[in-house]
Amino acid sequence: MRYRLYTECIHGHEFYDSKLGVFKVPVYLTAMFEQPGETLKSDRGVDLKYSREENPTTRALEKILAKLEESEDSLAFNSGMAAISAVFMEFLRKDVSVVVPMEAYSTTIQLAELFSKFGVKVVKAWPSTEKIIESVRRDTRLVFIETISNPMLRVVDVAEIAKFCRDSGIVLVVDNTFATPLAFKPLKIGADLSLHSATKYLAGHNDVVAGVVCGGRKLIVDRLWDWRRRLGGILQPLEAFLVIRGLKTFTLRFHRQCESALEIAEFLVDHPKVEEVRYPGLKSDESYRVASRLFEEPLYGGVVTFKVRGGREATLRVLKKVKLIKPSPSLGGVESLLTYPVISAAKQIPPEERKLLGITENTLRLSVGLEDVEDLKEDLDKALGG
Ligand SMILES: Cc1ncc(COP(=O)(O)O)c(C=O)c1O
Repeated sequence: MRYRLYTECIHGHEFYDSKLGVFKVPVYLTAMFEQPGETLKSDRGVDLKYSREENPTTRALEKILAKLEESEDSLAFNSGMAAISAVFMEFLRKDVSVVVPMEAYSTTIQLAELFSKFGVKVVKAWPSTEKIIESVRRDTRLVFIETISNPMLRVVDVAEIAKFCRDSGIVLVVDNTFATPLAFKPLKIGADLSLHSATKYLAGHNDVVAGVVCGGRKLIVDRLWDWRRRLGGILQPLEAFLVIRGLKTFTLRFHRQCESALEIAEFLVDHPKVEEVRYPGLKSDESYRVASRLFEEPLYGGVVTFKVRGGREATLRVLKKVKLIKPSPSLGGVESLLTYPVISAAKQIPPEERKLLGITENTLRLSVGLEDVEDLKEDLDKALGG
């Protein structure tokens, strides 16, 4: 039986040890399992013999994640990039192209570009629905998009792209890290796979690195499971436990982060030291219409991007002056983090593309945490010199 998402976050692992009466998932810190002549099977039907392939704690997490994304199954990896690597290994090969938006997470683009040594072509598309669809060529096998782009927080019409890919027989993979399954479920509108850097909102405490892919059983078990065990990218049991624990409060955290993000975005819009604010939940934002069609109200994400008046110097001053908010990359955790994209994720984007995308020397990205929103606004106001 499936419960609603809020309940599945807490109970979705289905673990119960009737001998001990334990219903909390234990951390199975074991490299191997008994093999007395024949091999045990995990509930997924694969051999349970060695923790590089399958582990019961990790498996418990996968059950929750599949329920959250309403997928048949899921696979947990030791990072978001390990999850993306397995997906690329499965779908990319000589003489095929992959379409990725120019503003996708730069490590994802770089990973795709590494595949050019095997004869894969990478087509970088402007991050809009029309341009992504227009970039598809005869040899395109995979379209890889993100629900909300980073750092400019553009939202593309995933439903339209999914329909196009379905009709054209192209695999669509959606990196749903920024939106989370609470706001949006890519598989429900026809994507083939939905994946996450679980390091972010799902684990939520800025203390673990993890990844997940959700999708149909055929793709997950028959194909990606094999890549994971051969590449050695499974999430280890202790980390899986931390994600399971983080998920218990995920819904509360994400709701609160979205609410605070909107409040901060509105505060920054009116701030004299701020030139521009990007947040898909602002009615004035270019992505508001599509975001409000796709996302569960009022969940527009917990990240706000803004441009500081006064250029690079003024922007660096803000980074140095924030006290409560920590200047650091990453997002989605309980602590608010302020990122300077031109020296972190966007550093690898070629300067001319960065310019086109609007990622300037005065752009900052704020991941809103769980602190009191008034304290966050005060911290920003002081740092901006308001
Ligand atoms: C949107 C997105 N996808 C994937 C990743 C990679 O995930 P990880 O850092 O867990 O490997 C990140 C990391 O920041 C990300 O922001």
